[in-house]
Amino acid sequence: MAADRSEKGSSVSEYALLTIEEGMQLIDRLQREHGLPKTEMAALIGAHCPELRDYAKAKARAIADQQYGKDIYIRGLIEFTNYCKNDCYYCGIRCSNARAKRYRLSKEEILACCREGEKLGFRTFVLQGGEDPYYTDDRIVELIRQIRTAHPDCAITLSIGERERESYERFWEAGADRYLLRHETAAASHYQKLHPRNMSLEHRKQCLRDLKEIGYQTGCGFMVGSPGQTVEHLAEDFLFIRELHPEMVGIGPFIPHCDTPFAGKMQGSMELTLYLLSLLRIGQPDLLLPATTALATIHPRGREMGIEAGANVVMPNLSPVGVRDKYSLYDGKVCTGDEAAECRNCLEKRMESAGYHIVVGRGDHCDVR
Ligand code: 5AD
Ligand code: FES
Repeated sequence: MAADRSEKGSSVSEYALLTIEEGMQLIDRLQREHGLPKTEMAALIGAHCPELRDYAKAKARAIADQQYGKDIYIRGLIEFTNYCKNDCYYCGIRCSNARAKRYRLSKEEILACCREGEKLGFRTFVLQGGEDPYYTDDRIVELIRQIRTAHPDCAITLSIGERERESYERFWEAGADRYLLRHETAAASHYQKLHPRNMSLEHRKQCLRDLKEIGYQTGCGFMVGSPGQTVEHLAEDFLFIRELHPEMVGIGPFIPHCDTPFAGKMQGSMELTLYLLSLLRIGQPDLLLPATTALATIHPRGREMGIEAGANVVMPNLSPVGVRDKYSLYDGKVCTGDEAAECRNCLEKRMESAGYHIVVGRGDHCDVR
């Protein structure tokens, strides 16, 4: 029987027909060999259908349960600046978006978020921002030092885009432990369709390799269903992830933002995002996989379904409510009106309703400092 691919997101191109039986065999092989050659990976992604999704989900969830039990890790996200010098076509805080209301949290405000976060049980702070020239290396170093002094037991994660290796080294020496930098797509031709000419996939990949070499627990990631994406591009993402071997991979559906060049484009498919989460879990069992805000934005149970498909991390927002809606990467982002405590409680209930529980702690699964 041929796989029924009628639900497939239309932004992903047709690929070779696989029977469900063949698809299941490829999923088994992905588990055994921790990866597949590009053609097979593309065929497996292209064949996604309810039967293969269910098969992958059951396997992925069993692997996640074996690795992490019913534990879900939380990371407190502090979106500290939405100024950005980049002009990525998909992103609502791109520099050309004159309608974006810009804000920047002061060091004191960021430290207050961390204090509040620690009270709520967070032991990881993710400092995320646009590529904001105000936040020079010196300022970031000072910020890390102060957080490190105030919260010696907490992990500090940076997510502030591409910098030079020397800067990453300085941040590491100042006490940062982890770094998130999504590669967005590992296919050079597709990367060029999503970014202006002054940005390059090679530089981004180099940043990721540098981060790993320095010792950061590193996260990369990609959008699902971004305009022009094909199953071959997604297969490239899997190959790149296998080569980089990051500790974390963040994926979420592309969601158009009304003030960007991609305003009218199709949203990425939830089913495909969930399937890819499962395949990532199957390929790399110990991977930290967040159920992302973008997934929660396109479906009321998005985060829970992400966990059911194999994810094991959630990243609620710790930013002050007054600035939440300004960190608008895409339309309709959820949780923009909720205080940190509300959001944490809500997430806790959501996880419990799905049979999981949030654990307090750094959530180190591997031997990082
Ligand atoms: N839809 C979905 N995700 C987006 N991001 C940025 N813009 C969008 C969008 N329109 C993601 C990117 C980025 C992360 C912080 O948010 O993957 O790395
Ligand atoms: Fe943030 Fe529900 S998860 S308010």
